[in-house]
Amino acid sequence: MKQYNVAVVGASGAVGEEILRILEEIDFPLKKLVPLASSRSAGNTLEFNGNELTILELTETVFAEEEIDIALFSAGGSVSAKFAPCAAAAGAVVIDNTSHFRMERDIPLVVPEVNPEDIALWRQRGIIANPNCSTIQMVQALKPLESAYDLIRVDVSTYQATSGAGKTAMEELVAQMQDFFAFKLDESEHNSFPHQIALNVIPQIDTFTDNGYTKEEMKMVNETCKILHKEVELSATCVRVPTLRGHAESLTLTFDSAVSADEARELLRNAPNIVVVDAPQESVYPMPAACVDRNETFVGRIRNDIYRENVLHLWVVADNLRVGAATNAVRIAQKWIEMENET
Ligand SMILES: NC(=O)c1ccc[n+]([C@@H]2O[C@H](COP(=O)([O-])OP(=O)(O)OC[C@H]3O[C@@H](n4cnc5c(N)ncnc54)[C@H](OP(=O)(O)O)[C@@H]3O)[C@@H](O)[C@H]2O)c1
Repeated sequence: MKQYNVAVVGASGAVGEEILRILEEIDFPLKKLVPLASSRSAGNTLEFNGNELTILELTETVFAEEEIDIALFSAGGSVSAKFAPCAAAAGAVVIDNTSHFRMERDIPLVVPEVNPEDIALWRQRGIIANPNCSTIQMVQALKPLESAYDLIRVDVSTYQATSGAGKTAMEELVAQMQDFFAFKLDESEHNSFPHQIALNVIPQIDTFTDNGYTKEEMKMVNETCKILHKEVELSATCVRVPTLRGHAESLTLTFDSAVSADEARELLRNAPNIVVVDAPQESVYPMPAACVDRNETFVGRIRNDIYRENVLHLWVVADNLRVGAATNAVRIAQKWIEMENET
């Protein structure tokens, strides 16, 4: 079987590190791994599969020099805007974790459990986009239900961990908690979020748009329709909570006809990479602390609405750094390899 040279752009970051760990864990046809970052981290070493690798500086020419076949980008939108086309021009397929290309018409936006066929469109620009972390875990849970019943509307509230904003944001939460125990929380700095995140809940992720929703909320609206190839009504409220890792979502789904919670539970049990954790009488349901380092999306609290038989409520939790970013990117790469080897 062919083996591939893989570049991880942003290898020193929260998502990049997770990509490396997943590539160590799975059976990936890897010839060479090239970690890339900015000049700040270039020259630092990291361990991969028992070997010490040196981080190289991201440049326009590095993809051609290193003969990269697959470039996994997670270094921010402006970095992808500048360097993803260089990687594609050098013959690599780019799998981009940032929001930069997601809504462009000729760039496929892919969750492999939902719309793997869209990967075939990669040749148009050489780039495949990874959706927003909150969108990925939600559409994974929506897909089996949407295939069985006509989904009309989604109302979602998210409870998003600090790691969704990168490594420095996690460090900010830890530093603020240390300040709290040192009785100096009021002196604590906040740079990653608009307010103190320790002992707080912030109903704002990213900046507000003119319609009163944040960019994060509008990403969930627009990306969901693109991935499902369907105009679903969606309203999102995205909230930052003081956890380190694992996004939770409360979903209210409206269908055009009656839906049974038992049937929905069964559909979800049979869906790929979904684990149903739903025994509320025993206090068993998905929680962020239990999803860390896991590559599945956990669903529980599956119940019918008290008033309307066409409305279902559920609770969805996944590791944002894995399912919401690294795992999805690596699964896209695996599917891309499978499709390339078929043609
Ligand atoms: N965190 C999540 O849950 C999540 C989920 C989905 C998508 N994403 C997206 O993934 C991207 C990275 O997120 P993250 O959470 O991993 O952030 P992070 O922890 O802050 O890491 C950022 C990475 O990008 C590198 N980088 C920054 N500027 C660069 C430049 N000019 N040239 C080359 N490398 C550069 C950094 O390298 P240095 O060490 O050299 O600074 C670091 O490796 C963001 O666009 C984010 O929106 C994140």
